[in-house]
Amino acid sequence: MIFLFMSIFARFFQPGWTGVNERTFIAVKPDGVQRKLVGEIVRRFEKKGFKLVGFKLEQVPEDLLREHYWDLRNKPFFSSLIRYMSSGPVVAMVWQGLDVVKTARKMLGETNPADSLPGTIRGDFCVEVGKNVIHGSDSVESAQKEISLWFRQSELHHWESSSRNWIY
Ligand code: RTP
Ligand code: MG
Repeated sequence: MIFLFMSIFARFFQPGWTGVNERTFIAVKPDGVQRKLVGEIVRRFEKKGFKLVGFKLEQVPEDLLREHYWDLRNKPFFSSLIRYMSSGPVVAMVWQGLDVVKTARKMLGETNPADSLPGTIRGDFCVEVGKNVIHGSDSVESAQKEISLWFRQSELHHWESSSRNWIY
């Protein structure tokens, strides 16, 4: 009950989380960084019209990754997923804009690259589910949790985009 109340409260009363202020957590996974896909991925989100509010390159501690993928802890691929995600630096980002959570998942494609349409990031740049280049939050609630797990408040930047009035 208390969790339900907290999630309703977070959804509707936290400024900065709804409408054009919706935010999502995106991470270029170690294979995406190694394969020099960071620029291409950032380009897609920028050109779409979303606003970058957080960005960092990080070798991620395993305990953070375990917490991030906690819901998958009982899956047979969990330990290989943690190994994969800690095999090199990751680019962690926060993007902001109207319906950014849902739209970003569409831009990513399906979990399995083979099910992802050409034109999506996974559809264009990878072949195996275990090396699928990018992570994106799957709901507004997950985005809120993931952003607070990966970023301190001081790492999230408030700035006015000069193209805002041409997008909204
Ligand atoms: P993500 O969280 O990374 O954005 O991916 P997703 O929502 O599309 O998929 P999810 O079910 O959350 O799985 C997380 C990541 O685990 C790896 N995975 N491997 N071997 C497998 O069958 C398998 N299934 C999932 C993928 O890296 C997936 O993105
Ligand atoms: Mg997921």
